[in-house]
This record gives sequence, structure tokens and C-alpha cells, in this order.
Amino acid sequence: MSVFIVLLGAPGAGKGTQAKILSQKTGLPQISTGDIFREHLKNQTELGKLAQQYMSKGELVPDDVTVAMVRERLSRPDCKRGAILDGFPRTPAQAEALDVMLAEMGGKVGVVPFIKVPEDELVERLSGRLICRAQGHIFHKKFNPPKVPGICDYDGSELYQREDDRPEVVRNRIRVYLEQTMPLVSYYREKGVLVEIDGTQPIEKVTEAIWAALPEEVKHA
Ligand code: AP5
Repeated sequence: MSVFIVLLGAPGAGKGTQAKILSQKTGLPQISTGDIFREHLKNQTELGKLAQQYMSKGELVPDDVTVAMVRERLSRPDCKRGAILDGFPRTPAQAEALDVMLAEMGGKVGVVPFIKVPEDELVERLSGRLICRAQGHIFHKKFNPPKVPGICDYDGSELYQREDDRPEVVRNRIRVYLEQTMPLVSYYREKGVLVEIDGTQPIEKVTEAIWAALPEEVKHA
């Protein structure tokens, strides 16, 4: 049976940072709906242009569009063993759709690490975040600086600030998270798969805490 890890947490909690590390350690693909939308936007596809209308304001892209995109991604061969879901699901309707999709493909949600970080720290993290143009590697001006300012340590590409990391958009993203995504905490707690993780620890300590919660079968790539 394929096993899926759902990383849950507010904007800036560290989902993308941890998803990349866990993907390397487990060999499971990272599926970030935000990254897929940004890739579409870069390529100026119709989906990218549609998503941009929501992303630039910090609103969620409609469920039907997002679910269809994830359904296509999960059908690819690299998801046979499972995947690390980063930023999906984000609404109760998306969580229910995921359960249906996984049941169809003989998979399950194995664990949901819920990365908790207080709101003040989220704003500081997002305002200092730097992303690499080529592959989306994540840095922070203060908490996780690149070796050479403005350059990605891993592929040498330029680092930039995301447009939706502007303070007014960040405030709306956090509001949307509290209203639309927080209900998933009780959804997954009731299913017995939620594990609370203290996201204020250093990055390596957060990884250790998540690792300790993973089902044994995903730890062996
Ligand atoms: P998305 O790209 O998913 O953004 P997000 O959920 O808002 O999450 P972020 O990427 O901002 O934060 P993160 O938790 O990954 O933190 P990170 O690791 O980067 O979504 C963007 C938009 O796309 C949405 O607003 C929506 O419009 C749309 N969208 C996406 N998915 C959707 C869906 N399912 N449905 C509908 N719409 C959807 O870390 C943040 C910073 O903190 C970094 O600088 C990092 O270096 C630093 N940091 C990380 N960990 C630590 C630590 N332990 N200590 C100190 N600093 C740390």
C-alpha cells in the first residue's frame, strides 16, 4: 500500500523546507501545489494565469481546479510508493477528495505532521524568505542564509522574494489559513493520524521530530 505524508501548517511554518529534506531522506516525491501553480505561472499556461488571480491576493485557488491538478500528479508512476504532500489538502473538501483519490489508488494518509509556529514568527519568516529561481530551494536572510548572498547554494541560480510574501498579502494568507485550513486539524486528529510538531525549533530538530513520527515503511527508501 502506498503511504502519503500530509504536511500541515500555516504559511511560513516550514512545510516546504521539511518536505524537501524528507523527500531526499525517503525517496518519496514532494508534491507542492504552490510550486506547481508557480511553475504554471512561469510558463504562462491558462492554469497559471487563473491561479495567479488568487495567489496574488493570498486567496485559495478553487477546490475543483486544485483537486483536478493533484489527481493528475498522483497518477504519475513516481507516486506508486506514496508522496509528501506540501500545501495540499487545504480545505475540508480537498481532504475528502484526497481520501477518495487514495482509496482508488490503494493508498492511505499515513501521518499528518502539524507544524506549529506562532503568528509573529510566521510574518518574520515570510518577510525574510528567499527562493531559488531554478528549483525552488528555500533560504532565509537570517535563519537560513545562503553562503553567497543572492545565490542558491545548490544550483547557483538567483534568489528572489515571492510576490505573495508582501506583508499585506501575508496577513490575508494567515487569515485564510485560520478560516479554511485549520478545520483539517480536527479532521485528521479524529482519524488518529495527526502529530503535533513544535515548528519553532531549529530546522534539523523539526526534521528529527517529524522523522520520529513517520511510519516505518516510508523510512526505508
Ligand atoms: P504555498 O506555496 O503552498 O504557500 P504556503 O502554504 O503559504 O506556505 P509557504 O510556502 O509560504 O510556507 P512553508 O510552510 O512552505 O514555509 P517554508 O518552508 O518556505 O501556496 C501559495 C499560494 O498558492 C496559496 O496562497 C494559494 O493561493 C495557492 N495554493 C497552494 N496550494 C493550494 C491548495 N491546496 N488549494 C488552493 N490554493 C492553493 O519556510 C518559510 C521561511 O522560514 C523560509 O525562509 C525558511 O528558510 C524559514 N524556516 C523554515 N523552517 C524554519 C525553522 N525551523 N526555523 C527558522 N526558520 C525556518
